Amino acid sequence: MMKGIVLAGGNGTRLFPLTSATSKQLLAVYNKPMVYYPLSVLMSIGVRDILLISTPSTVPVLRDLLGDGSRLGLNLSYAVQAQPRGIAEAFLIGADHIGDDDTALILGDNVFHGAGLPELLRHAVETLDGCTLFGHPVSDPGRYGIGEVDTAGRLISIEEKPRHPRSDIAITGLYLYDNEVVDIARRLVPSPRGELEITDVNREYLRRGRARLVRLGHDHTWFDCGTPDSLLAAGQYVQFIEKYQGERVACLEEIALRMGFIDAETCYRLGSGMAQSDYGRYLTEIAYALG
Ligand code: DAU
Repeated sequence: MMKGIVLAGGNGTRLFPLTSATSKQLLAVYNKPMVYYPLSVLMSIGVRDILLISTPSTVPVLRDLLGDGSRLGLNLSYAVQAQPRGIAEAFLIGADHIGDDDTALILGDNVFHGAGLPELLRHAVETLDGCTLFGHPVSDPGRYGIGEVDTAGRLISIEEKPRHPRSDIAITGLYLYDNEVVDIARRLVPSPRGELEITDVNREYLRRGRARLVRLGHDHTWFDCGTPDSLLAAGQYVQFIEKYQGERVACLEEIALRMGFIDAETCYRLGSGMAQSDYGRYLTEIAYALG
């Protein structure tokens, strides 16, 4: 079985003053809170037991927003990260939640979308052996973890925010690991900036010959909403898809219905509860169409 973790803490300093009094992951990406997007990715790969980790002030707000997840057929739990001591701290905070299982970690500010993406991700989950990372080309590689691949497409190096990037393939914020990740995270030495770096976890898997990079295709879109420009771009992208292509992105109730986590009646009821909004009306329509 695979457990899920959404890491939604940090100070969001690159978005100040937007995030001086609220959490980044609660900001709007078009018509939904940002955290809906990473949560939808975990749901679409069949992960239902999910831990949300955030700051002491944001955990209660996330709990108000999402509750225990039962209305979506999920089992959601919450944990506090007192200080942003690194992405890999998620595996220490989440060790009990992970137990003996595999885990999918997703960053709370990552938006993924594209034709066939859920199928591609589900295949990666089914064939997981060690660690699977997902790469996407970017124009500003100095801002990300960067993966270098050989001519056969095998991952050969990973560097965090390199000054001289060896490729333009960013390692996105969705990571699949087997159960060894907890042990690896426990042995990590904090980086010079005092953080348990996810790139060090990935490098350890690479050293053991157990890290794989899946490159997302041109028809897959990925945003890390960490800056005002990428936040706006993600919102405009979602608006375009929803308004002009008629597809909904990260509509949690719809995904829950399609995945068989809830039935059409429940979806209809959830939609009726917010029928004043376009989102709510859509839920009642989709419940009717798929019921
Ligand atoms: O988005 C993909 C990139 O995410 C990767 O390519 C990088 O390898 C990875 O290090 C990370 O880079 P960022 O510069 O985006 O990392 P940042 O410190 O901004 O953290 C990413 C998210 O994780 C952010 O939304 C806040 C959350 N976070 C981060 C840290 C360090 C936490 O919740 N707790 C933390 O301790």
